[in-house]
Amino acid sequence: MKIGEKNYRTIWFKDNSVKIIDQTKLPHQFIIKDLKTVKDSINAIKTMEVRGAPLIGATAAYGLVLAIIEKNDQSFLKKASEDLIQSRPTAINLKWAVDRMMKKLSGVNSTDILKIATNEAKAICEEDVDFCKNIGLNGLKIIEEISKKKKDTVNILTHCNAGWLATIDWGTATSPIYHAHKKGIKVHVWVDETRPRNQGANLTSYELNEEGIPNTIIADNTGGILMQRGEVDMCITGTDRTLSTGDVANKIGTYLKALAAHDNKVPFYVALPSSTIDWNLKNFKDIPIEERNSEELSHVEGLNKDNKVTRVLIYPKKSKAMNLAFDVTPAKYVTGLITEKGVCEASQKGLKSLFK
Ligand code: MRU
Repeated sequence: MKIGEKNYRTIWFKDNSVKIIDQTKLPHQFIIKDLKTVKDSINAIKTMEVRGAPLIGATAAYGLVLAIIEKNDQSFLKKASEDLIQSRPTAINLKWAVDRMMKKLSGVNSTDILKIATNEAKAICEEDVDFCKNIGLNGLKIIEEISKKKKDTVNILTHCNAGWLATIDWGTATSPIYHAHKKGIKVHVWVDETRPRNQGANLTSYELNEEGIPNTIIADNTGGILMQRGEVDMCITGTDRTLSTGDVANKIGTYLKALAAHDNKVPFYVALPSSTIDWNLKNFKDIPIEERNSEELSHVEGLNKDNKVTRVLIYPKKSKAMNLAFDVTPAKYVTGLITEKGVCEASQKGLKSLFK
């Protein structure tokens, strides 16, 4: 998608290094960064220079390519795969991508291994672009229907960033919005700020602006009253891990938004590629929920009056803070799952109807 007048993807491979857009610097600075070692990849995932379930999967896949460039040795590769999986715990795409790569690479000692790895990482990215495009086309039908009935702008609420910056291109939750906009349907997006890291304000609003899509940032607690006032026609969020039961883990605060949507009969959709489905876990309480550094809460970063990025403490110095990064929305609050294969009920039956 576009930044300025140029089309970008979030990750690409060139001259034996992996290029990423450093998302910790957006929206105030646009910096393309080189990852040259598997350690660089792990660090980029941990510090959230790259984030979003599909993108961390792709970064891990390319991390293994970098590991092979560093040292073509099976035990080094195995250790690299284990370290990559540990780098962020909640999004299942990370393990999915590493497992897929290792299935191709384990035991391969020929000089072809680099080529095999590069091709597979590239295939993971291309597949994600394709999946996200289809998620968009499938979600578009829902927006179209609302637009036909309403005969006015469709107001969509989203949480966190499940936009193209969280994937390789298109995004998951934003893909139906981009497709609707391209088709000439009037849409407006309520963007949850998404404390503490502000992925909504810093990334979703930024990418929607670049595509010319009207959007308004709201504090995370505002969605409820907007729904009561009839100012939200639908919600679409992404997910970091969807269980076969239809329960969805996503950025902290998603659950509360789903509860408000349920109370106000606002449809609440979750968009995901099949790489986000965890077919093994049965109980959502077993999903590992990442707890991040509390400084993400107590400190904020922004531009000062001299246009320099500055970081300040906003809490009392003596206060403790706790920073859980994800929550789980039970399937009963999810109107439907928008996938690359179609839209289904958030349930085992629904998912099985699309994914045999
Ligand atoms: O902590 P983040 O920024 O990686 O969390 C991202 C989200 O929660 C997204 O909604 C999710 O990964 C879906 S991305 C298409």
